Amino acid sequence: MSTQVGVALLGLGTVGSSVARAFADRGKRLDAAAGRPLRLVGAAVRDRRKARDVGDLAVTTDPFRLLDDPGIHIVIEVIGGTSPARDLHFAAFERGRHVVTANKELVAKEWNALHEAAKLAKRELRFEAAVAAAIPLIAATRMLAASRPRVVRGLLNGTTTYICSRMESGLGFDAALEEAIAKGYAEADPTADVDGFDAAYKLSILISLLEGRHFHPDNVRRTTLRGLSADTVKAASSRDAKVRYLATADFGERATKARVGPEEVPIASPEGAADGPTNVVTIETDLAGRLVFSGPGAGGDATASAILGDVIAIARAMR
Ligand code: NAP
Ligand code: HSE
Repeated sequence: MSTQVGVALLGLGTVGSSVARAFADRGKRLDAAAGRPLRLVGAAVRDRRKARDVGDLAVTTDPFRLLDDPGIHIVIEVIGGTSPARDLHFAAFERGRHVVTANKELVAKEWNALHEAAKLAKRELRFEAAVAAAIPLIAATRMLAASRPRVVRGLLNGTTTYICSRMESGLGFDAALEEAIAKGYAEADPTADVDGFDAAYKLSILISLLEGRHFHPDNVRRTTLRGLSADTVKAASSRDAKVRYLATADFGERATKARVGPEEVPIASPEGAADGPTNVVTIETDLAGRLVFSGPGAGGDATASAILGDVIAIARAMR
């Protein structure tokens, strides 16, 4: 039998809990896909006293107990933010672990340093879950390496799409945001969603992949969704349009211009048809033409799907 692959989870919130449940509920499927047994060894959390529905999974408040365990080969970081996540990524690579993450903020801000650390350690850094959750958009974008990008445009933040679509049903902004938080779509600090930081991080990752060099998220112009009123939503509707929080990158000859913010889109467009946490992303390139991707862009299970895809890919390639 092939060697067992040990996996550690850093973070056991919305996403981490979905990953842990998947290990418990579909272990045989994961092992078969990986071609070897995968074992979730334990999880690191901030507060040990919180009630959690993760069976008998070992839980610690000391991430280094997992990072230092020689039985761990793959570390999944789903804490979010830059601290302590940044140090934990570097510590994982220093110990020869592969890293899988959904942390778009860290990847977008620390693109060069993380990739260099992974390269130095001869280990993988994978972040399919960081952009568009269940849609395999990172993998698709990597497949466009031969093409010159022209435009990326779409909905990269599920919380803002959820808010806009719920306001079309008559809900107020604050109530719609509360629902998005309750459903696990929003960031720990939902400012990141409504003020556009989250969409800017994701757009910066896509641009970095398409251009083959880091495009810092500070270079994305952001306009907030805060202040979106029922009147604005109604006025758009009277023009057969909807308000959506769009992320756009135009790859000009000399410079790439990137922005995120609310815009009107036709009701009949893919973005206008999207509701709930759905992401819709169009990528136009010279060789590949116009590609449109759509699917669940937020939520624990949708994100766990991408994380587990990365874990399986690493395990399959391990010798
Ligand atoms: P979350 O529900 O807030 O969970 C964060 C987890 O990290 C919690 O379990 C928390 O512990 C733990 N944590 C916080 N500080 C820690 C520390 N210092 N040491 C150890 N553990 C610590 O967040 P989430 O929604 O799962 O998101 C996690 C990551 O996935 C973020 O980067 C987010 O952007 C990304 N993401 C989320 C979604 C989504 O739909 N939610 C989708 C795609 C990507 P306690 O439980 O003890 O508080
Ligand atoms: N808060 C994010 C969103 C989670 O609403 O899209 C998925 O990355």
